Amino acid sequence: MFKANENYLKLPGSYLFSTIAKKVSEYQARYPEQAKEIIRLGIGDVTQPLAPSIIASLHAAVDEMADAGTFRGYAPDLGYDFLRNTIAEKDYKARGANIAPDEIFVSDGAKSDSANIQEIFGPDCKIAVCDPVYPVYVDSNVMAGRTGNYDAKTELWSDVVYMPCLAENGFAPELPDKPADIIYLCFPNNPTGATLTKAQLQSWVDYANKNGAVIIYDAAYEAYISEADVPHTIYECEGARTCAIEIRSFSKNAGFTGTRLGFTVVPKDLKDADGVAMNGLWARRHGTKFNGAPYIIQRAGEAVYSEAGQAETKEQIAYYMKNARTIYEGLKSAGYTVSGGVNAPYIWLKTPDNMSSWEFFDYLLEQAHVVGTPGSGFGPSGEGYFRLTAFGSYENTLTAIERIKAL
Ligand code: MLT
Repeated sequence: MFKANENYLKLPGSYLFSTIAKKVSEYQARYPEQAKEIIRLGIGDVTQPLAPSIIASLHAAVDEMADAGTFRGYAPDLGYDFLRNTIAEKDYKARGANIAPDEIFVSDGAKSDSANIQEIFGPDCKIAVCDPVYPVYVDSNVMAGRTGNYDAKTELWSDVVYMPCLAENGFAPELPDKPADIIYLCFPNNPTGATLTKAQLQSWVDYANKNGAVIIYDAAYEAYISEADVPHTIYECEGARTCAIEIRSFSKNAGFTGTRLGFTVVPKDLKDADGVAMNGLWARRHGTKFNGAPYIIQRAGEAVYSEAGQAETKEQIAYYMKNARTIYEGLKSAGYTVSGGVNAPYIWLKTPDNMSSWEFFDYLLEQAHVVGTPGSGFGPSGEGYFRLTAFGSYENTLTAIERIKAL
């Protein structure tokens, strides 16, 4: 008789955003009247339509598919050159970072890349994560059998090195206090919205190079950076080519959550203890397990970098960041302790009256019909916190904040 993968059986509960969606559906079924009032500021999903130049490029690419001369079949598994070249030029060279097109692997998004990248590392590698953390990093390592045992009381895994991100350290992690081989960092941060300065990030790169660790740097929220001292890519730091992988997304900067596009950078200089180049391993993995992102979507991704695409997507980001300010200032004026929302579309707030994160989730859903994300869903150090996203419409964001202020 076949057996299930026992690593999967160790996973406690369902994926955070599935749990939230289920709770909201149950509430809607119970209270159909209130259901109409619900405002969703939970999952970080965009609400603005795709920008006109992106739509135009999608249409043009679809038309190419109707002509035998320009029809495309299987996409190259690592990505089309036109997109890889554009990314190398606009995301890296323009920032003084030296990344070649064949170090860029186009994918269907940052979530799957951040979950899959661990496959190219040995099963005994120790992972280090921030706490709170985007749950995919930990869950994917649980599935790979790398995390040891789960302690339901502390909500910690025995073989994971945790780096608490608390109000006391400005939600920025300290260097790991135990040896770690794979260090996950996400900046601007999901869920706290915190950032690292270039000098801070440089200290992580130096640490990784000195200790033979690799940094998986999730820069999905790079487009939201507004402050000058915050690095847009880890490759702005000296020495990052020998210790860092970077993951990027088109979801948050250009609204591709439904169309799906992202990429991962694995520099050829990144080598393991025996000199094995990780670039080749990720190419091998991609070639075997990934179908390639669709041609029409990669053309749409290219359009993001055009002059019009840049102007249009910058406008969308400004729209969301106006929401972020509305949330931040509204909650602050109501006496909440808030952070984030300056270089990231997430606002991180302390729950009032010592409510637990899930108590506050229920309270907001029932009393204000607003959906947010409980901080404890991101890890035990998120307990007593709550995340709101700036990705709603402006009108809904205003209404949500007015309702919360009136509680
Ligand atoms: C989030 O809400 O944390 C993100 O939108 C989830 C994701 O990008 O997968």
